[in-house]
Amino acid sequence: MKALILSGGKGTRLRPLTYTGAKQLVPVANKPILWYGIEEVVAAGITDIGIIISPETGAEVRAKTGNGDRFGAKITYIVQDKPAGLAHAVKVARPFLGDSPFVMYLGDNLIQQGDLSYFLKKFKTQQQDALILLREVSNPTAFGVAQVDETGRVLQLIEKPKIPPSNLALVGVYFFSDTIHEAIACIQPSARGELEITDAIQCLINMQKQVLACQLNGWWLDTGKKDDLLEANRLILDTYLTTEIVGQIDSKSQAIGRVQIGAGSQVINSTIRGPVTIGNNCYLENCFIGPYTSIADSSKLVDADIEHSVILEGANIIGIHQRIIDSVIGQRAQLFVAPRRPKALRFMIGDDCQIELT
Ligand code: DAU
Repeated sequence: MKALILSGGKGTRLRPLTYTGAKQLVPVANKPILWYGIEEVVAAGITDIGIIISPETGAEVRAKTGNGDRFGAKITYIVQDKPAGLAHAVKVARPFLGDSPFVMYLGDNLIQQGDLSYFLKKFKTQQQDALILLREVSNPTAFGVAQVDETGRVLQLIEKPKIPPSNLALVGVYFFSDTIHEAIACIQPSARGELEITDAIQCLINMQKQVLACQLNGWWLDTGKKDDLLEANRLILDTYLTTEIVGQIDSKSQAIGRVQIGAGSQVINSTIRGPVTIGNNCYLENCFIGPYTSIADSSKLVDADIEHSVILEGANIIGIHQRIIDSVIGQRAQLFVAPRRPKALRFMIGDDCQIELT
């Protein structure tokens, strides 16, 4: 059994963060989203992992993630020259996959720990051609959607339908036997110009192959957009964070609840109300950091009041006396109050940024 993790694509929905990096490397609780997928796959006992990368962001994914040693796995990087679809990615990965059965995991998806192992066992014992996971959603038009009969048999799959036949979305984790390659050979690019894995699975159904659908009960997040990213951050901090204070926290500061402070970080005259994770070499002075906040390495926060937010590496937030909530602040971004007059707002804002002022 092998794993194919998809970390290519364009990442348009997480702009501007994805102008400067891969969306799968955006951190959730100070760890790249992609790494949760790798860990989940390894925890299920699969250590031969192929990762699809794009020519634009592949080098960064490879440099950050490495050869797999840190996960106890062997990682093979596979360059997909253009984001021509999930089924196209499988096609490109064929030399790596050979005729092995495999799990395909979309690198921007997160599922609850342990679920992958559970469904892998099911796939192995039932000897299906494909096992797909479904989850009820309120906005099915944004996903691949399945229509199933009362016994759970899949009747039809449609990618991002305008009129969805159900509210059962395809989760970005799939289990395949080598028959999928036959099905991929039969499909044509969709209206959005991609070779869709959804169409390939539909093709398996048309070929009378065994396609089993299971409902996922644990949580699932597709971190493609800002609010999903914040929700993933909240869930991960809520579920897995344990207290670990390695950095320094002075006697005027308080860390309440589950708080992590990394090596070389300093917290001065501040209140941190967990769950909160603060990376290495951060500097915080006169701050209130509220629940569900992740602050990445080398950030500096002075006179700041922040809650339910994700702060990326090297950001500076200084002297903002209004509470910042539900925010994602990019790498090296600078938010500060200028000492000079006239008192006014001055911006240097990158493309596709969103600023909400009151
Ligand atoms: O999140 C679940 C959904 O994922 C499913 O419900 C849909 O059926 C499935 O098509 C997929 O839809 P998305 O529109 O969310 O896929 P996205 O383009 O965001 O790509 C998913 C991941 O795969 C992402 O990490 C980027 C990577 N990717 C994508 C494409 C199109 C590649 O590596 N290569 C590609 O060619």
